Amino acid sequence: MDTLLLNNIKDVRHNIENWKKDGLKIGLVPTMGALHNGHASLIKKAKEMCDKVVVSVFVNPIQFGPNEDFDKYPRTIENDKKVCEEIGADIIFAPSPKEMYGENKKLSNIDLTFVCPPYSLVDCLCGKSRPGHFDGVATVVLKLFNIVTPDYAFFGLKDAQQLFILKNMVKDLNLNLTIIPCPIVREDDGLALSSRNTYLSAEERKQALTISASLRKIESLYKQGITDVSTLFDTALSILDKNTELEYLEFRDYDNFEKVSNVKNNTLIAIAVRVGKTRLIDNIIV
Ligand code: PAF
Repeated sequence: MDTLLLNNIKDVRHNIENWKKDGLKIGLVPTMGALHNGHASLIKKAKEMCDKVVVSVFVNPIQFGPNEDFDKYPRTIENDKKVCEEIGADIIFAPSPKEMYGENKKLSNIDLTFVCPPYSLVDCLCGKSRPGHFDGVATVVLKLFNIVTPDYAFFGLKDAQQLFILKNMVKDLNLNLTIIPCPIVREDDGLALSSRNTYLSAEERKQALTISASLRKIESLYKQGITDVSTLFDTALSILDKNTELEYLEFRDYDNFEKVSNVKNNTLIAIAVRVGKTRLIDNIIV
């Protein structure tokens, strides 16, 4: 099936208006491109639940810090189009930064209206080392919601903090759509799929496997009845490859995002690790 590749907001809106007139259910899968099987699973889920599916591909400059990988982030629009076509997405919306944010704007809150998620949700986990990141995510996602006006929007659980923040945004701002969380997709050896895995050398990839291994160990200890966070933390740390650098390993209640000292059901165990120059995240919810 042909997937329409559109770069303009006007063209997207035109298609959406026609679909809405026909009473069709619309699904949005927001991505930054470099689509892999994790994204494919989101698009498939959207196809199952909706009549029409829009995949946005936009490497969003306002969610990257000054020393982060905005310039080197993989841009693979030809392959992204193939993936969307194979699954049967209707539109890829791939705007330029100018199309999204206008010309001559400084991409900061000097010139631009931002969505600022609550401090309690951004001053932890990834938000601690990436100040402003979730303001940038929430802002672009709200813009995408306003452009596409989807009934459902699909996000991966790998970015568990992002998902939690966006669900709150939908509730707090009375947005008329439902967010559908989708499970993490992993390689056979356990590595969580990420567009950033392409940065890893063969040696680093081996080291990165200890990230999911440490989470699996926590899960199996929890199933054996060990709930004490410091014991679980120390065991996980002993499994992580010594050449990697742990940024955080945190245990939070996934109902309210508060830290727990004893793991119980619905605890998010989230980890961020630097492997060489690459920062990887992963998590499990037990
Ligand atoms: O998860 C991502 O790929 C991005 O943060 C998102 C949600 C597409 C916003 O740019």
